[in-house]
Amino acid sequence: MSHQEIARPATAKRSSALKGTARMPGDKSISHRSFMFGGLASGETRITGLLEGEDVLRTGEAMKAMGARIEKHGDEWIIQGTGNGCLLEPRAPLDFGNAGTGSRLTMGLVGTYDMETTFIGDASLSKRPMARVLDPLREMGVQVLKSAPGDRMPLTLRGPRQAAPITYRVPMASAQVKSAVLLAGLNTPGVTTVIEAVITRDHTEKMLQGFGANLEVETDADGVRHIRIEGQGKLSGQTIAVPGDPSSAAFPLVAALLVPGSDILIENVLMNPTRTGLITTLLEMGAEIELLNQRNAGGEDVADLRVRSSELKGVTVPAERAPSMIDEYPVLAVAAAFAEGETLMQGLDELRVKESDRLAAVARGLETNGVDCSEGHDWLSVRGRPDGKGLGGGTVATHLDHRIAMSFLVMGFAAEKPVTVDDQSMIATSFPEFMGLMAELGAEID
Ligand code: S3P
Repeated sequence: MSHQEIARPATAKRSSALKGTARMPGDKSISHRSFMFGGLASGETRITGLLEGEDVLRTGEAMKAMGARIEKHGDEWIIQGTGNGCLLEPRAPLDFGNAGTGSRLTMGLVGTYDMETTFIGDASLSKRPMARVLDPLREMGVQVLKSAPGDRMPLTLRGPRQAAPITYRVPMASAQVKSAVLLAGLNTPGVTTVIEAVITRDHTEKMLQGFGANLEVETDADGVRHIRIEGQGKLSGQTIAVPGDPSSAAFPLVAALLVPGSDILIENVLMNPTRTGLITTLLEMGAEIELLNQRNAGGEDVADLRVRSSELKGVTVPAERAPSMIDEYPVLAVAAAFAEGETLMQGLDELRVKESDRLAAVARGLETNGVDCSEGHDWLSVRGRPDGKGLGGGTVATHLDHRIAMSFLVMGFAAEKPVTVDDQSMIATSFPEFMGLMAELGAEID
């Protein structure tokens, strides 16, 4: 893709009050799963509100390469799925670009098929650990025929004639690992069980139930979840309206909190409790965020958010909250740079293995822009400057990471001096509308 070859820098400048309404594009996690489960289910799936970011489109291409028919008619994506157990061997490697979710979930989905599947991706994805998914798949009988050192992509899987169901306790808080094992269970006889000590986003469980899978979740007295899926059942096509992405909403939200005089409305935000840790944290910091028009759409809670610029105070964010805001720490760190006092974020070990080492990328970006911060193995502490004085003026290395790029552009809207990111191209993987949408609210970006 062109963004791997030519870096396109962008600079954000101190902006006057942000005003207006922004409608959020579809949630990335739900969009990936809509293409996957629609591509697998029998019959027709119709999707509106799908995120048309590069990551999700790659998942669509992968499902097409394995036999699904996927077309867009007007605003609607229409899928004819293969039927559970009926994916076809792809003729060429599946290229997932930058997408951890697309690649890891698909490894689970196809791993248990008696066929060979090769996974490739960009420089960022090729550095990310895949053992977390390959280890449980090996227990189910999947062979890893080839891989780069340390179980990394490019890699080739070969499934067994018949996979063995397992009971697997997920060793880290990861919805991707949980989901990969559950999806492997779809093509495995008997009951596959995933044990999850800390709840992570639950879209796979909810959506598979919606598609008709025999899946049950039991939470024991210690709050540990036992998720059981019966394999080789029928999945039937569904109609899905994808709610707006709270992880994308985080950027205009924090921008409006930081730019004095701002008052914006962010429409159509998914409020699933496994995804709302950032809002909880910002409210604790003193943010003026009003939840309007709260409703249920297609089984998910959704709301519009009215956000006004606010004087923020530093807080301690507990480690237990990390799974519900794992993708939002970069932009929270930017908010903390403008808060009074110290913000301490704990339990961040998973940030080390995202599209970049996000903990290091955030700390370096803050330092380059004059923010006082310290970084530990799994924590970050930021001491803020409420007036933004002396902040900015640096160029941030984004390391092919969309959320690093968007977070530091948000910083530039409120800092005294402009903030430059070395590449904006990756923003298209998750939020292609970001630049236009921020400019419409009044933010200044070149
Ligand atoms: C996702 C899970 C999270 C998150 C990612 C999307 C998903 O990753 O960071 O952006 O859709 O399942 P982990 O499960 O690896 O924490």
